[in-house]
Amino acid sequence: MLNTNEREWDEQYMELARRNTLTWIAVTFILFPILVLAGVFMRFVQGNTLGSAREWFYPMMTLHGMGMVGVAYVGGMACVEQVIAKYTRPSDRVSFFAIIGTVIGVVLLLVSVLIGKFAAGWYFLYPLPLKGNWPTWSAVVFLLSVTVLGATWLIWCLDLLRAIAREYTISKALGWHYLAGKTEPEVPPAIIITTVSLIGAVACLLSGVIVLALFYVELLTGTANDALLMKNLTFFFGHVLVNISLYLGVAVIYDVIPQYCGRPWKANKIVAISWNSVLAIVLFAYFHHLYMDFVQPTTFHYIGQIASYMSSLPAAVVTIFGALTLVFHSKMKWNMASMFLFISMVGWAIGGVAAVIDSTIAVNLRFHNTLWVPAHFHTYMLEGLVLMILGFYYHYLQEQSQRAENHTLQRMITGLIVVGGYGFVLMFYLAGASGVPRRFATYPAEVGHGVPYSLVAIGFVALFSVGLALYISEAGKCWLKAARS
Ligand code: HEM
Repeated sequence: MLNTNEREWDEQYMELARRNTLTWIAVTFILFPILVLAGVFMRFVQGNTLGSAREWFYPMMTLHGMGMVGVAYVGGMACVEQVIAKYTRPSDRVSFFAIIGTVIGVVLLLVSVLIGKFAAGWYFLYPLPLKGNWPTWSAVVFLLSVTVLGATWLIWCLDLLRAIAREYTISKALGWHYLAGKTEPEVPPAIIITTVSLIGAVACLLSGVIVLALFYVELLTGTANDALLMKNLTFFFGHVLVNISLYLGVAVIYDVIPQYCGRPWKANKIVAISWNSVLAIVLFAYFHHLYMDFVQPTTFHYIGQIASYMSSLPAAVVTIFGALTLVFHSKMKWNMASMFLFISMVGWAIGGVAAVIDSTIAVNLRFHNTLWVPAHFHTYMLEGLVLMILGFYYHYLQEQSQRAENHTLQRMITGLIVVGGYGFVLMFYLAGASGVPRRFATYPAEVGHGVPYSLVAIGFVALFSVGLALYISEAGKCWLKAARS
């Protein structure tokens, strides 16, 4: 039983946590549509319709890629932070610090890309940032942006891990007692998945710190770095970051879906095995990005293929099967939150299968750097993780505001986002399977069939954008009501 002081402290804490979550939601609602527009701009250029603005393609690609990956990551973190606040006490000050650090990082990114026209792509592969036809200062500002974001997010992750460890200890938070056949203490699955994700995040952010330090050393001393080492570190950072962002979204599904179907979703030995195996394997899947690097030891290529197959399967199968058995024959309450969360698993599954296909060495020989690559990651990011984040945001805002719901409008929004989103990624898949390369601002005659695919994609993005605008309007009204209370 809490005494009066403890109860007052708890209420104050929950209020600060609520304010932080509302701020994260506002940041997402501002940044995400701007980044979608940058994506639409690229499709227009690839559709040969904006000839004079063509020189902006690569700066926009860099802004869009870096921005989207960042928004997806902070969105996922903001969701799990709110979810685990039911069980643990992450520091509200660190969370506020993360908001400020992220805003500073975004401002630096905008300066580097919009003023300096920095255009090395979101994962700034060595040595391109130091060799492109943009001023050196813009590369330095970009690297500073990644440094601020990386350092901020590392501190944020460590604080969430601290809070979890304090309540459960890390071994229990990873569910190791379930592996030993014990059922007590009960650990919510969201805690297990968040812990796995945070450990992965710390590992990849540390790799990012090392890459950045090596870039700075080269900038200051002129000593060239080892390109293969830089590529390994960069892809370890980028690949794991994107993967664990998705897992943060999955953690939310385990916590929220039960609230809509009225059945508990408890952790057990199977859940613990699947998520611990993700932690063990996901760190090696990034090798599939280096199949074309013949100086990389061949064994790593094989490890990459096996890890890519094994890292995706256990967690996806256990989660999707678990969700289906939970919802089947239940009195499920469908609204925009539960629909988004449920449908997000489809995007995760389809994008995951397409990724596994591409990670098969024999297939990768043909699909490497074609539009098949953006096809698969846009599927699980846009129709997977983004739906998980927007679904949770709506769930949270609705809970806070208790606003009356318009279910017909919500079904329409879901339809637009699904049809628009899948139509958009389908054009990437069709173009990629027929050999259209990725990251081409305009397509030469040999792959000129990429142009009509781009134009059709714009039509689908228009549908998606109408859905997104209606979603933000609906969720925004809840946000305003919640912010005023
Ligand atoms: C409707 C929304 C979106 C549109 C219209 C869009 C459009 C595009 C386009 C046209 C490209 C360039 C493809 C090429 O290589 O030729 C691209 C790349 C990319 N997009 Fe998106 N995208 C959208 C959503 C997202 C989301 C939700 C994410 C992640 C959460 C994302 C992350 C990326 C990344 C990481 C790249 C690669 C950038 C690089 O190669 O440096 N996009 N997108």
